[in-house]
Amino acid sequence: MDMIDPFGRSISYLRVSVTDRCDFRCTYCMAEDMTFLPKKDLLSLEELDRLCTVFIEKGVKKLRLTGGEPLVRKNVMHLIRQLSRHIESGALEELTLTTNGSQLSRFAGELADCGVRRINVSLDTLDPDKFHAITRWGHLSKVMEGIDAAQAAGLHIKLNAVALKGFNDTEIPDMLRWANGRGMDLTVIETMPMGEIDADRTDQYMPLSLLRANLERQLTLTDIPFKTGGPARYVDVAETGGRLGFITPMTHNFCESCNRVRLTCTGTLYMCLGQEDAADLRAPLRASEGNELLSNAIDEAIGRKPKGHDFIIDRRTNRPSVSRHMSVTGG
Ligand code: GTP
Ligand code: 5AD
Ligand code: SF4
Repeated sequence: MDMIDPFGRSISYLRVSVTDRCDFRCTYCMAEDMTFLPKKDLLSLEELDRLCTVFIEKGVKKLRLTGGEPLVRKNVMHLIRQLSRHIESGALEELTLTTNGSQLSRFAGELADCGVRRINVSLDTLDPDKFHAITRWGHLSKVMEGIDAAQAAGLHIKLNAVALKGFNDTEIPDMLRWANGRGMDLTVIETMPMGEIDADRTDQYMPLSLLRANLERQLTLTDIPFKTGGPARYVDVAETGGRLGFITPMTHNFCESCNRVRLTCTGTLYMCLGQEDAADLRAPLRASEGNELLSNAIDEAIGRKPKGHDFIIDRRTNRPSVSRHMSVTGG
C-alpha cells in the first residue's frame, strides 16, 4: 500500500520539521529578527508521533527530523524515543536528523541509543570567526564538541555546507580533507531563494559546476553511483579516499527521482520544497481519534505532488521564489 504520486514516484521518505526555531541565525537562511510561528499552533509531541506513525503505516521507510534546529524543541528526545519503536519493529529503515550540532554533545549518546545511525550536521566553515559571522549566534567550538561526541557514540556523520561565493568557496578543499580525514562525507549545497533574508542572494550564489571545476584543479574527482536516498550526487576523491556530494537544486534539477514530502511542526504537509502548495493535516488529525480522515487527507495531498521546483534567483526583483524560510520545512 505504498504512496505513489501522479508521476509514478514512490513516496518513502518523510522529513519532519519539529520546530521552526533555531539557536543560530545563518545569514543565508534567516533575518536576524525572525518571526517564528506562534507556540500555540504547534503540534504536540504526541500528535507528531501519531502523524509519523500513519505515514510509516502508509509506506514511509525513512524519517528525518529537521527544523529550524530539531534539538531545541522541548523534550524532542521523548519523540525520538517513541519513534524508535518503528526501527525496532523493522517498519522503519532509518530514523535520522539534520542538525546544526549545537546541542549534540548533550544528545549524541541518547540518539545512538534510540537507533539513530547517521546524522547530517550543517557546517559552512572551519574558521571560528567566519563561523560566528555566518551563523550570527553560533560558536564553532560547541559544534566541534558535538561532532566529537557523535563520533564517540558511533554515529556516522555527513556534513552539509552551503556554498557561498567569496565566503567558503575557496575553503571547501580544506573542509573536505578535514571531513574525509575524520571519516565523514561532505556535501555542498547551492543556496535556494527561500524566504526574505537581510543579505542579497545574487551576491552569494555559487553554481556548483563552477565550484567543481575549481576543485578539480587540485583534487581528482570521479563520479560514483553511491546514493543515500537524498538528492546529492557523489564523487570519490582520490587524494582523501573519501566522498564529496553535490546538491544542485539550481543548476541541475533532480526532481524526477524525488521520493519525499515534508511536514511542518504545525501539521502542514508540503509536497515540494520549492512550491507553495500545501495540505493541512492538523484539522483531520484533530477531527477524530481514528486515522481514516488523516489517511485520506494524505492520499489527497500525495495526489497533488507537483512535478518539481523551479527556483530562480532573480537579480531584478531580488524576491525569493518561495516566500517561506527553509527553517519552516527544514530543507
Ligand atoms: P541523506 O541523503 O539522507 O543524507 O539526506 P539529504 O541530503 O536529503 O538530507 P539533508 O537534510 O542533508 O539535505 C541537505 C539539503 O539538500 C537540504 O537542506 C536541502 O537544502 C537540499 N534538499 C534536500 N531535499 C531536497 C529537495 O527535494 N529539493 C530541493 N530543492 N532541495 C533539497
Ligand atoms: N538554500 C540552501 N540551503 C539552505 N539551508 C538553509 N537555508 C538554505 C537555503 N536558502 C541549509 C542549511 C542546512 C540545511 C538544512 O539547509 O545550511 O544545511
Ligand atoms: Fe538554523 Fe539551519 Fe537556518 Fe542556520 S541554516 S539558522 S542552523 S535552521
